[in-house]
Amino acid sequence: MAYSDKVIDHYTNPRNVGTLDKASHKVGTGLVGAPECGDVMRLQIQVDDNNVITDAKFKTFGCGSAIASSSLATEWLKGKSIDDAMKIDNMDIVEELALPPVKIHCSVLAEDAIKAAINDYRVKNGMEPIASEKVHH
Ligand code: FES
Repeated sequence: MAYSDKVIDHYTNPRNVGTLDKASHKVGTGLVGAPECGDVMRLQIQVDDNNVITDAKFKTFGCGSAIASSSLATEWLKGKSIDDAMKIDNMDIVEELALPPVKIHCSVLAEDAIKAAINDYRVKNGMEPIASEKVHH
């Protein structure tokens, strides 16, 4: 299977690898695993007083597509409000990275990690978590 140039770019030069202070109430942390393969992704967001994401970091123990998906996700998250970030769809990632069908679950992992991080932030700050009703492709 051939990886797209964008996957290889993000895989060899991942953006925003790292850790934010989990204890801060301005940081949301999402930790998710893919049942299909056992890969694990942690994605964190730093949010300002206007609910805008000012920073995002990830650590992914997984395949190249999962690393590329989370790297891309952190780029997309910066500057977005948490409401807009909630709308990021795994199929946007699939399209941007030209992931093949067997790698779609890797992008689902990134979407789930984004939503988990936002909900962690919401709960920490007295907001209701948003249920994800989505059926993944
Ligand atoms: Fe499982 Fe990519 S193969 S996350």
